[in-house]
Amino acid sequence: MGKKLLILKGDCIGPEIVNEAIKVLRKISQLYSIDFEMTEGLLGGAAYDETGDPCPEETLEKGHQCDAILMGSVGGPIWDGLDRRFRPETGLLKLRSDLELFGNLRPAILYPQLVAASSLKPEIVSGLNILIVRELTGGIYFGEPRGIRILENGEKEGFNTYKYCESEIRRIGHLAFDAAMLRDKRVCSVDKANVLEASMLWREIIEETASDYPEVTLSHMYVDNAAMQLVKEPKQFDVVVTGNMFGDILSDAAAMLTGSIGMLPSASLNKNGKGLYEPCHGSAPDIAGQGIANPLATILSAAMLLRHSFGENEAANAIENAVSDVLDAGLRTPDICSQGNIRVNTSDMGDAVAAAL
Ligand code: IPM
Ligand code: MG
Repeated sequence: MGKKLLILKGDCIGPEIVNEAIKVLRKISQLYSIDFEMTEGLLGGAAYDETGDPCPEETLEKGHQCDAILMGSVGGPIWDGLDRRFRPETGLLKLRSDLELFGNLRPAILYPQLVAASSLKPEIVSGLNILIVRELTGGIYFGEPRGIRILENGEKEGFNTYKYCESEIRRIGHLAFDAAMLRDKRVCSVDKANVLEASMLWREIIEETASDYPEVTLSHMYVDNAAMQLVKEPKQFDVVVTGNMFGDILSDAAAMLTGSIGMLPSASLNKNGKGLYEPCHGSAPDIAGQGIANPLATILSAAMLLRHSFGENEAANAIENAVSDVLDAGLRTPDICSQGNIRVNTSDMGDAVAAAL
């Protein structure tokens, strides 16, 4: 039986980049005799336009039935004015929450070929290999109560709730420590425990969880300092574990260290290893439809999918090596292109990776 793959192309550059990842997966299917049964679903603005819901019931159902999900990106200015319930981003959050994809792995790896594309000096970033483990279904993104209310004085007030319960902290802690055991065995937990009670509990539970991992060195850092350290001395980090919003912010910063946010894949996992795989970047409405988006983050997300949901490590490594080979050959989409490189478009890049396999 084939492996059931749900494809959610999403909005703006989403379909362009996902098509390239599919190209690569089809080649993998031939080379490694892995049979995929691909089904498409609607998510985000595309889903709203067609059904009035950014995450329709049918997509949730397909999400529950499949073995893994490959996603492009959602959102765009034409949906920005919608009520929060109908926004493309709300659709993605609903899917993450419904499938309990609490564990978000965001590896920030600098390919040596892209040292020049990073905004930081080569000596600061070369060899960079950080894994950000972001909690994805809790924290301020989901905390209730939330809303916009009218105060007694007639003024409007927006409010959200930042909360984490012990079990939520514990399970993301385990994911981070387990990941660290396969790496350099260092975890830095990022919080704001000097101000927020939710962070104080976060710190306490992470410390408790660490006692199951005597080989792992745990450190703590306040999020403001972590933001600074990421751009000052990023190589000090091995695994960073943090809550939903801090992880959202820090992973964008980490992405830029690798040369382009167009290079960063991600895996969002539930407790059974079912995963949704998507690039860390957004839907880039400014370049949508031009065929110039960088498909590598999505292609690398497909590699993570093979590794984490299907245990196909060899095929996953093959994709990562093919990306490296293509970069060696000097091929670059505009976002990572420097002098002396060969500028290519989205589909040339996908073709080149598939050929390099
Ligand atoms: C991300 C994105 C999403 C998030 C948006 C699109 C809702 O920024 O995956 O990092 O904030 O989680
Ligand atoms: Mg983000």
